[in-house]
Amino acid sequence: MVEPELSNLSHETRTFAPPPELAANANLTAQAYADAKEDRIGFWGKQAERISWAEPFTEVLDWSDAPHSKWFVGGKLNAAYNCVDRHVEAGLGDRVAYHFEAENGESEDITYADLLGRVCQAANALIELGVKTGDRVAIYMPMIPETVVAMLACARLGAPHTVIFAGYSSQAIQDRVQDCGVEVVITADGANRKGKPSALKPTVDKAMENCPAVRKVLVVCRTGQEVAWNDERDLWWHDLVSKQPTTHKCEFFDAEHPLYVMYSSGTTGKPKGVLHTTGGYMVGVSYTHWAVFDLKADKDVYWTAADIGWVTGHSYIVYGPLANATTSVMYEGTPDTPHQGRWWEIIQKYKVTILYCAPTAIRMFMKWGEQIPAKFDLSSLRLIGSVGEPINPEAYMWYRKNIGNDRCPVVDTWWQTENGMILISPLPGVTAGKPGSAMTPLPGVVAAVYDEAGKPVDKGGAGYLVVTEPWPAMLRSLWGDDDRYKNTYWSRFPGVYFSGDGAKLDEDGDFWLLGRVDDVMNVSGHRLSTTEIESALVSHPAVAEAAVVGAADALTGQSIEAFVILRESAHGGGEDVVKQLRDHVADQIGAIAKPRSIMVVPDLPKTRSGKIMRRLLKDIAEKREPGDSTTLADSSVMDLIQANLAGAK
Ligand code: WTA
Repeated sequence: MVEPELSNLSHETRTFAPPPELAANANLTAQAYADAKEDRIGFWGKQAERISWAEPFTEVLDWSDAPHSKWFVGGKLNAAYNCVDRHVEAGLGDRVAYHFEAENGESEDITYADLLGRVCQAANALIELGVKTGDRVAIYMPMIPETVVAMLACARLGAPHTVIFAGYSSQAIQDRVQDCGVEVVITADGANRKGKPSALKPTVDKAMENCPAVRKVLVVCRTGQEVAWNDERDLWWHDLVSKQPTTHKCEFFDAEHPLYVMYSSGTTGKPKGVLHTTGGYMVGVSYTHWAVFDLKADKDVYWTAADIGWVTGHSYIVYGPLANATTSVMYEGTPDTPHQGRWWEIIQKYKVTILYCAPTAIRMFMKWGEQIPAKFDLSSLRLIGSVGEPINPEAYMWYRKNIGNDRCPVVDTWWQTENGMILISPLPGVTAGKPGSAMTPLPGVVAAVYDEAGKPVDKGGAGYLVVTEPWPAMLRSLWGDDDRYKNTYWSRFPGVYFSGDGAKLDEDGDFWLLGRVDDVMNVSGHRLSTTEIESALVSHPAVAEAAVVGAADALTGQSIEAFVILRESAHGGGEDVVKQLRDHVADQIGAIAKPRSIMVVPDLPKTRSGKIMRRLLKDIAEKREPGDSTTLADSSVMDLIQANLAGAK
């Protein structure tokens, strides 16, 4: 894979030790690694005490049918009971579960007692609709409290939910609803986005034309906009749910009872239905949320600025924080409505202590400029986190300095939809973090970097990131396609979980993520990571954001093609800037890594979860008509880029 001497990442020598006060009071010390190493299974058995079991488990892990795992065998629990009821029973009913902040500035504090009443009402409503244990319910909703209520109501009844991100198309809803055998859908009339109502129900209505198995569509009134209505099928949430009793006695399910299915894109066109079950998932998210964010539930105000429609929202807005009786912020809107300081205003308002977000957001804030967060009081923050893609050292440093006030530890957390929980991350009270490195596997997690032949590489080596031992929140299968489960994750290196990511171990044995292995380029026999070159580009003061792809080249195998967004201050630099950037990459990595071309673009094509769609950039670089762009967050971006390039010729 990547040759160490070509790496700019491993030249990163800055480290940031935990602040002494945080370290002195941290939930975890280095002892946790030692404990888990000595008895990994016993360690997870101990972490399971964080969860309330109606019936105790008899065995921590049954791996006899690998790669199918059973965790906490024989245990019985209810995920919703663990998230809500038990906290109310323990006298925490008045604690705020969510400070809900709407885009327009309206807000609502929802206590654990409120949440319990609402979840019970929704569960009773679903029962009235005939939802039984095991039935699947699809949820296509804005970022509003009812979304959490709907998920927990499903969990309470043992009806697995499949949340479909509210930016997806009718086609995507239809595919997921059909694949998952959904009979009931929960949605809203619309969502508030960028100061305007944006419709959701019409998208569901269109999907329903091809989903005859769906009996009922329950509709939350959010925006009050006009909607078409099917009397047989559609019901208003406020008509059905509000009249229900606020109590409901829950049943307890087997630890391996399905909790949810989350669809995620794979290498083929058909999305994969990643299946998570109850016991192991709840233990995994509760433990990691407490450990990685050093959560002090009675003091912290925690904010995952992600959408509930993604796994990050499932694990770290809903199940992890609620299992830990956390007070969270939930925000409905976009970061620049009505102004570019909206996030920082929210942190100031609620005195947020822990912020968790994605590098793509951080780079956007970098582009807007540090003068914006500087206008707000961010002194309540004590820890900041990152997830979703490799964070470039430059973005890490900007985040640490301008948001974390040069004081807060940054936790760069690596994990995937399939993992359910964070697997690789610094521990804020223990690890001296390095900008750009996710550092080491968490206690109880065993990961390695393998070479092509499936041999672990030594320190300094690079290859494929694998997880060599099962972990509690791991996916159990792909919904309805167990063969694909085995092939995708367990066949590349038999017996170990293949992540699809490239990684490198530095001389200390710390992990550096290099992006998906399909994004690794081979130029004249040298393997180069798109991430490393992007990092080099972003480290230049003129660059706000960069994406790099490998384009087919008859001579060199692949050539490196870069797309960059310039910072506001660098506009008008023209060819000069491009030359400077090529030289800069050569300086940072080596002449071999110099992009053949650098195209200055106004924006980059991103999915709704913020991932750059390099495939489309590759089409441009290889001078083809760009392929399917229906999953883009903003479909006009491709036109803009092409118009821009045509204009530049
Ligand atoms: C990438 C999101 C580097 C990685 C929770 C992985 C990361 C994919 C990091 C999963 C990180 C996530 N550093 N890369 N800290 N976190 N990734 O399923 O390529 O949406 O395979 O889950 O995101 O994305 P997913």
